[in-house]
Amino acid sequence: MKQDLFRKKSISAMIHESSNSDGGLKRTLTAANLVTLGIGAIVGTGIFVITGQAAAQYAGPALTVSFLISAFGCVLAGLCYAEFSAMVPVSGSVYSYSYATIGELLAWFIGWDLILEYLFAVSSVAVGWSGYMCNLLSSWGLTLPPHLIQSTLDHVSGQGWVFTGSIVNFPAVFIVALVSTLLLAGVKQSALINNIIVVVKVSVILLFIGFGLSYIDMSNYHPYIPENTGSFGSFGWSGILRATAVVFYAYLGFDALSTAAQETKNPQKDMPKGILISLLICAILYIAVTAVLTGMVNYKELNVDAPIALAIDRAGEGLRWLSPLIKLGAIAGISSVILVMTFGLSRVYYAIAYDGLLPKIFSKINPKTGVPQNATIFAGVGSGLVAGMFPLHVLVEMVSIGTLMAFAIVCISIVVLRKTQPNLKRPFRVPLVPFLPLLGAAVCILQMISLPWATWLRLIIWTAAGLAIYFLYGRSRSRLKF
Ligand code: ALA
Repeated sequence: MKQDLFRKKSISAMIHESSNSDGGLKRTLTAANLVTLGIGAIVGTGIFVITGQAAAQYAGPALTVSFLISAFGCVLAGLCYAEFSAMVPVSGSVYSYSYATIGELLAWFIGWDLILEYLFAVSSVAVGWSGYMCNLLSSWGLTLPPHLIQSTLDHVSGQGWVFTGSIVNFPAVFIVALVSTLLLAGVKQSALINNIIVVVKVSVILLFIGFGLSYIDMSNYHPYIPENTGSFGSFGWSGILRATAVVFYAYLGFDALSTAAQETKNPQKDMPKGILISLLICAILYIAVTAVLTGMVNYKELNVDAPIALAIDRAGEGLRWLSPLIKLGAIAGISSVILVMTFGLSRVYYAIAYDGLLPKIFSKINPKTGVPQNATIFAGVGSGLVAGMFPLHVLVEMVSIGTLMAFAIVCISIVVLRKTQPNLKRPFRVPLVPFLPLLGAAVCILQMISLPWATWLRLIIWTAAGLAIYFLYGRSRSRLKF
């Protein structure tokens, strides 16, 4: 009985199953598609909303340093994702990698954690989208009633969960429903829309950097690292570190790319390219945007929902034309994050259901579109409900803890697999193993420790629910049992 928990899928069987095109997922994505999917998944609420708040509250102009450090941590995890996704190009990402390396129970645990990450990522980004959309609508004189733009519940310190009096965050539910419907049309169609959105959002960002440069006032960079106010995390070097953990959210999404490995034409070569190039492009864009933003406006004034739009408005008449473009770019840009993350969530459901640990109905592929239809609908309905009911701050913390755990596990699994299965064909290899992956794991674990206890408690409850599902349902239905 005990050995059930450690039964493993063989990597060659996984690769064989994934390359079986009969009724399975279709291989349509190219390296260029992967880079745009990556940028589509990464650039969103983080840069358009969180940058200003992180500069104003924690790091000042030195937020550029936070973005650099955070990028370094993500590149370490990105290298590990690249090695795994080229070696095991299947749709379950870390779930599948650990099914091959450590065994079924841990694979389930991680699959359940991935569901947490993507479910809450989609929901949190949808709530960010709702904020920007309401802001844009109100600038056109259109306001939705308050009971349709706020979450149903809020978590207030000292009081716990309270009803806000609102019915649901309607725009957040709406965007998830719209994006899920698009995903049902097929991966090629979704990739095409994503490409268009990426061109729009990157152009808007480049316009901001290009035109903003000449509005930089050098005095805004002094002091570059504002003096610490006396409490940890409030400016000074500790502020830079706190901001690093906060802007980590802005880089999330490159990992969702690995769930597209089974739909990629040449995953061995293209997955590492897709992951690392998209991460690099985003890091450069983020650092440039932050440098321009904190140069245009004093960091103390950036604690707003739409900091980039604020900087443009402050620049005066000369840049006024750019303001609506920035808002539209942000709204379109955030939509593509929802698109790729919902895609990731549906592929994780698909992969787990394929192995029998979730109901088989989620592994059915629509033969016409090649899409796991039920998994996509389930992903959309679940994320829509969460997005409509819960407030942004709770969702963001859940995303962070779930992702950091997944990253730490990927980094450690690289080291384990190099030892236990040294002869596997690795089209891409992380350099300096075990040093770099262990450093990556340490960076992630340190950031997890800095998260509030309430977030840990929710992670524990989520995990307990997952284990209950495994022991009551999945264990006896696992495909490996037969
Ligand atoms: N990286 C994604 C964003 O910033 C989650 O919206």
